[in-house]
Amino acid sequence: MMKSDKILDIAKRRGFFWQNSLVHGPIAGFYDYAHLGASLKRKWENEWRNFFLGLDDNFHEIQACQIMPEEVFKASGHLESFIDPMVKCKKCGNIERADHVLSAKIEGDFEGVSLEKMSELIMKHDMRCEKCKGKFSEVGIINMMFPLDIGTGKMKRTGYLSPETAQGAYVNFKLEFEALRRRLPMGLAIVGKAFRNEISPRNVLIRMREFTQAELQIFFDPGKIGEHPRFREVAGYKLRLYPEGNRKSGRIDELRCSEVVSKLKLPRFYVYHMARIQQFYLNHLKLPRDRFRFKQLTDDEKAFYNKYHWDIELNLESLGGFSEMAGCHYRTDHDLKGHQRVSGESMEVSVDGRKFMPHVLELSFGVDRNVYAMFELALKEEKDRVVMKFPRRVSPFDVGLFPLVNKDGLQEKTREIQVMLKESGFSVFYDEGGSIGRRYRRIDEVGIAAGVTVDYESLENDDATLRDRDSMKQIRVKVSELAGVLGEFIAGKELEHLGVVLK
Ligand code: GAP
Repeated sequence: MMKSDKILDIAKRRGFFWQNSLVHGPIAGFYDYAHLGASLKRKWENEWRNFFLGLDDNFHEIQACQIMPEEVFKASGHLESFIDPMVKCKKCGNIERADHVLSAKIEGDFEGVSLEKMSELIMKHDMRCEKCKGKFSEVGIINMMFPLDIGTGKMKRTGYLSPETAQGAYVNFKLEFEALRRRLPMGLAIVGKAFRNEISPRNVLIRMREFTQAELQIFFDPGKIGEHPRFREVAGYKLRLYPEGNRKSGRIDELRCSEVVSKLKLPRFYVYHMARIQQFYLNHLKLPRDRFRFKQLTDDEKAFYNKYHWDIELNLESLGGFSEMAGCHYRTDHDLKGHQRVSGESMEVSVDGRKFMPHVLELSFGVDRNVYAMFELALKEEKDRVVMKFPRRVSPFDVGLFPLVNKDGLQEKTREIQVMLKESGFSVFYDEGGSIGRRYRRIDEVGIAAGVTVDYESLENDDATLRDRDSMKQIRVKVSELAGVLGEFIAGKELEHLGVVLK
């Protein structure tokens, strides 16, 4: 089985990601993106922006601070409730997450199990510290936020590094609502850092202490949760669902959105957005259907602010099965009510002659987890080559560009094409080193989906070959049409439909 350390090893060798401050001895849970990883991550974020901000004219991206005053987290409930269960080794002082200690020894998921029950199980099975075999304390709790002092002396205030981007949208809600001419639904998206002092960071980019989230907060009229103006577009679309009741069988149900509303009693506004999330993964990024599912969380597992909570999971071999990548959270008025209570400022709005507190549907994605998933799913060891089959839209570069040989004017012609492609907005990996076969292998290894080669025929016919990384098939394309054809190829069109495949 492929393990996450093997993923890290390959990612490091190829220039995708590695631990931060390796030169000084790294701290667990902190990773840097190298040149290819940074590009892959940026592309994923941009695809997320294009897709989700494109859902509604009144969805917008904002940028908020990542250090915020204590009041914000009093209001959100994070000061009181953003806690993890922990056990401390009585002998060496090592601290571990209690639910992780349990799941390492007993089959099952222990998130949300009561502290008493966890203590009981740890004692009953005589679970010991991995490091020194000492006995554990009773299960206690620890707050996961990073506190800090802002300013000095009398002006000093306590703040925290934000554990989710979401609060940035809530503290800006009222101002944006006015600036955007008082319309609901209104969406505020933030792609930014989140910080959590995880007790046991692990699995490379999956559980980190500093990570990136892409979150969309949709503020809407709770009286309209049972409808969505575009629901008809998704009514017949089938969702892949793993409801609470299927935990024993492990079965995934496929239900039309209209059936999800009638059978699972989920509101149309919620189900519409579930459909769009699934379409992002399956239609837009073109991930295999059987890798994807929505998992319903039980009341014990749900985040403290959620009424409806289904996670988005991808099946990853290195993590031993389906793992959380994102969440579809109905947060009700939990946060706005909290900010109103602590600040004394009303968060209510007047729309269509009615005064009410908007509710929030949150689409919350962990960018690093998704990058990790893209990386693992892309990695293919074939007979003659190791190739990264990233979705074309998120390949670290859009296209590899090569002169067949470095003489007779081929380089000059290739450089002209490079300028044209860059001006058309493509990221280009230019390479003139080694045989053409070696250069193709090089782009296969880093996952660039398209390869364009300029040869002697190109000088006569003003064209070039376009090679598909996955099938290794090629077509000839006129230089004047190259940008358009490349655009269609990246959007998902197969080579056969873009030209005549060369024998
Ligand atoms: N605003 C809601 C929120 O933060 P969450 O389930 O705690 O909800 C959302 O986090 C997403 O952020 C998760 O689905 C996951 O993809 C990602 N995430 C959470 N903790 C993480 C961590 N320690 N390291 C990397 N990604 C994390």
